[in-house]
Amino acid sequence: MTAPGPGAHLLVSGGAGFIGSCFVRDVLGRHDGTRITVLDKLTYAGNRINLGDVEVDAEMASRFTFVHGDIADASAVAPLAATADAIVNFAAESHVDRSILEPAAFLRTGVDGVHVLLEALRVETERAQRGERASIPRLLQVSTDEVYGSVAEGRSVEADPLAPRSPYAAAKAAGELLVRAYHVTYGLDVVITRGSNTYGPFHHPEKLIPLFVTNALDDLPLPLYGDGLQRRDWLHVSDHAGAIGHVLAHSAAGEVYNVPGSTELTNREVVERLLALLDKPWSLVRTVADRPGHDRRYAMDGRRLVELGWRNRVGFDEGLATTVAWYRDHEPWWRAARGGDWDAYYARQYAERLAMSSAADPNR
Ligand code: NAD
Ligand code: DAU
Repeated sequence: MTAPGPGAHLLVSGGAGFIGSCFVRDVLGRHDGTRITVLDKLTYAGNRINLGDVEVDAEMASRFTFVHGDIADASAVAPLAATADAIVNFAAESHVDRSILEPAAFLRTGVDGVHVLLEALRVETERAQRGERASIPRLLQVSTDEVYGSVAEGRSVEADPLAPRSPYAAAKAAGELLVRAYHVTYGLDVVITRGSNTYGPFHHPEKLIPLFVTNALDDLPLPLYGDGLQRRDWLHVSDHAGAIGHVLAHSAAGEVYNVPGSTELTNREVVERLLALLDKPWSLVRTVADRPGHDRRYAMDGRRLVELGWRNRVGFDEGLATTVAWYRDHEPWWRAARGGDWDAYYARQYAERLAMSSAADPNR
């Protein structure tokens, strides 16, 4: 196995989304000759503008290709896999609440789509073994801490059983199981990362931090699920993307790496901090009906990733401050992201909850 290094050609699926676009910008921004082809379906969450910095820079643009397509479409994937040294798969439906409303798309991309990528990898691996291409390609599957389920105490280690509890998490776990099976059965070069809750610029405003920042900027209510004491470990998007690149370059085949964040907080603590940065009052916060099956806590042990040589760089307070400033400065971006099906989605997800809501007690 030769892990892809500088100068490689990467196929980045889902590269127009939040984390994928950060990965593309950062890797091309190293100016080390790496070429990237993005394959993205441009769902409501994908946006070519997220890759604008790359497309307007002549040197980076010369190493970049965008293909509009679906990872579940074998005819789109096969020719792209044929020229790639590695596939980095970010493509997924990524919002837990939407998976509760309509799970089917999560399974199509998370299971069928991952299967199509693995079949293409199998074909290319066999071509390399026959001497028809120079290198054996690698697949890095971007997964999530949600595959462990809710963790009451302690920290999940990579060998823990998978116990997903939402349709989103189940689709991600199923994708991982396929990846592992193709490694064991066909000897494919695959690696898996399990990242924790990620935040930063270009995050779709359906998720907690960008939803609450953009609602607060408009003085709209902030719908806090249940008691707001659920705990998440926050990871800056540049650290998540950097860790994925590090694992891609340095991991042995068949390995799984946790990618924890830098700060575990309750949702209430997150909301307090972002309201302080925005100089907005707690009275915007409404207690609303909880998410069904809501995972109380995620927490992962990151020792294996540290041993591989990776360390996060962005602390939460610094990262949240720059993120809030980014949303203040990029109003056209988030207003556009709140277009399309946004109003219908927002009404379905929140109208009844907000109608039945109560003022959130600031002292819990
Ligand atoms: P996102 O929703 O912002 O982006 C997903 C991207 O995938 C979009 O550009 C979308 O158009 C594309 N896509 C969706 N279905 C596709 C398909 N069938 N074919 C091609 N492209 C398709 O998601 P994100 O937050 O950037 O997450 C990226 C990956 O990281 C996902 O696999 C997610 O499960 C995982 N992850 C996310 C977080 C987080 O906190 N955001 C944490 C851990 C892991
Ligand atoms: O842990 C990694 C996961 O983090 C990723 O795999 C997912 O793709 C990503 O969306 C994220 O999932 P969460 O469900 O943790 O993120 P979300 O931003 O949806 O919610 C964070 C917490 O905030 C969670 O406890 C639910 C709560 N919440 C969320 C929303 C959208 C609210 O209280 N109100 C809300 O309106």
